[in-house]
Amino acid sequence: MIKIDNDYFHLSGENYSYCFFVENGKLYHSYFGKPLKKTVERKICDRIEPLFEYGEFGRGDFRIPSTVIRTKESLSTDFVYKGYEILKSATKSPFPTLRGEQEVLAITLADSCIEVDLKLYYYVFKDGLVRNVEIINKSKNCVNIDKAMSFCLDLPSEKYHCLSLYGRPNDERNYTREELGFGIKSIESACGVTSHRQNPFVAIMDEDTSEDSGNVYGFNVVYAGNFSIELEKTEFSQVRVNAGENILYGGIEIKPNESFLTPQVVVVYSSQGIGEMSRSFHRLYRKHLLPPNFRDKIRPIVINSWESLIYDINEESIKKLIDSASGLGIDTFVLDDGWFKNRLDDTTSLGDWIEDKKRLPNGLKPIVSYAKENGMNFGIWIEPEGISVNSDLYLAHPDWAIQTKGREGVQIRNQLTLDFSRQEVIDYVFSAIKRLIVQNGITYLKWDMNRYLTDVVSAEKYRKYTLGVYSLYERLTGEFPNLIIEGCASGGGRYEPSTLYYTPLIWNSDNTDAWCRSKIQYSTSLCYPLQTSSNHVSHCPNNQTGRNTPFKSRGAVASLGCLGYELNLSSDCSTKEVSQIPMQIEEYKKDAGLILTGDLYRILNPYEGDEFCEMVVSEDKSSAYFVYMRSLNIPSVAKKRIIKMKGLDKEAKYIIKERNAVYTGEELVNVGIEMNLDHEDFSCEILHLSEVAK
Ligand code: DGJ
Repeated sequence: MIKIDNDYFHLSGENYSYCFFVENGKLYHSYFGKPLKKTVERKICDRIEPLFEYGEFGRGDFRIPSTVIRTKESLSTDFVYKGYEILKSATKSPFPTLRGEQEVLAITLADSCIEVDLKLYYYVFKDGLVRNVEIINKSKNCVNIDKAMSFCLDLPSEKYHCLSLYGRPNDERNYTREELGFGIKSIESACGVTSHRQNPFVAIMDEDTSEDSGNVYGFNVVYAGNFSIELEKTEFSQVRVNAGENILYGGIEIKPNESFLTPQVVVVYSSQGIGEMSRSFHRLYRKHLLPPNFRDKIRPIVINSWESLIYDINEESIKKLIDSASGLGIDTFVLDDGWFKNRLDDTTSLGDWIEDKKRLPNGLKPIVSYAKENGMNFGIWIEPEGISVNSDLYLAHPDWAIQTKGREGVQIRNQLTLDFSRQEVIDYVFSAIKRLIVQNGITYLKWDMNRYLTDVVSAEKYRKYTLGVYSLYERLTGEFPNLIIEGCASGGGRYEPSTLYYTPLIWNSDNTDAWCRSKIQYSTSLCYPLQTSSNHVSHCPNNQTGRNTPFKSRGAVASLGCLGYELNLSSDCSTKEVSQIPMQIEEYKKDAGLILTGDLYRILNPYEGDEFCEMVVSEDKSSAYFVYMRSLNIPSVAKKRIIKMKGLDKEAKYIIKERNAVYTGEELVNVGIEMNLDHEDFSCEILHLSEVAK
């Protein structure tokens, strides 16, 4: 809801109120927290450091600015309030933005000295607040945008903790909580793409905030390119958070009458700990971000060829894999890397998106038909943004690769990147993908991206590159609305909301070891809904860790999201394991409705101990799905582990299928339930709860 009373603004959702006011032409922030019945009407701008709605540079506020706008004569800004508008819908944007019902407030500020307007947009949702800004050049000269963050939040002095997610390929999104110290910390990417290095998510919380209690603010940047979330704790212990696009060196010039819009940033507030923050993110993204065609729906159960075939691709090897997956309940066969012209390893051929005639003399068609005869649709891997120097495409268009004139291109994973800021490049890639889809009846695309950007010549090019990526997504999803696109970037290197706007699932990590995956998926769930996480059961010993984990545990962890398989069923696993698959899939298909749309309660954090435990409870609390896994077996105590459940209706009675016994919700939450584990490492327990009629 948006309430405005003279100079006081009060924005509110189900769990939050956000207040600011105008005083002497400046916008001051007064409150972000639990819902208030009344707007804060105290002008609290007499703190040592005022809390601003947006930080400026060069006029006496020495905190890290939210914007820096440069003209020939000035490096400072002094924006003064001009007025507000309530808009009927979101502003038109070249970036993916949250969709659906929302209230939008636009505040206009103007700097008369440099003749530039600044618009602050607030998109008010039930479960969170979204912001971005627009800078409009009203002068007769060009101005340079060195910095333009989308969300600024000044927090009063407290001891805060910061939770962020650094990572690497195969070890994505490490749960990292630390006290926020004095000075500036920046969680960011300058890789041109989101990257594994840091996820565009940060939570700031009181020092005593836990999973289930306390104040927490979660920030998530809706952008697939360079981003930053800056945190500054000042000498007076106040904290400024700026979040948005990371405009790199040199900035971006805007001409007279041009305007510059920034990507959106989502902020969710919870007074009930980190868990409730995540549930708010999940609700918000399910309703307002994910592609409407697929959200809340079970994604196809896939078998992916990568780990079993790698580059050993030919008609026979593919058909063998299809044979082994036939009749198990798998919906889609996904042919990963290695199917296109001369692609025998990762040194060649990116960009040449035509079937390798030597190994697939009849093209993809007979394989697609073979998959169909065996009850499976067909999906394919592609890396639209990649180009190998050793390719026909490079021979024909060397200038299509991003390179600096006079320098040799930097090869990462033996490849360069296509210049997606150019329309003809996108046209080419679009036509190549369209041909593949139309000629072969492909229903599923795994869009990979295995390289960070180098040699980009300007901040503007970085932005245009990302806009080019969105435009390809737009064209593909526009032309093929039923095509499922699985996002991927060397595993989960581009797990962020703007990609989720187009892809209903993202390959979370190439690390499929059950224990490592439990950690990666645990931290991914901090802001991304389970239904976006693509999880595969793979063989043991695990390719990444060399570790053995029980088949049941691999399935249990993979079931907490979109289940799939990535193993050679005829050689990599025992007949006993293969025989478990139909049941695993059947059970998953029964549980998926609940898992994909229920409320997630995290119970044990695998980053803080040797156990992982989560449960998903249906919105009406009538059913729940519980998964517990312990890492190493601990003699004597293992069997006696009692876990207290969460999220249940304490008044209700639940039958637990696996125990064939009835318990009250109160008993399960307050007293807990004993785990019944097998005598081995990485043993797990899966429990299904359903409410017994009152
Ligand atoms: C990286 C991805 O993360 C893998 O799953 C696989 O698709 C390879 N690329 C293929 O090159």
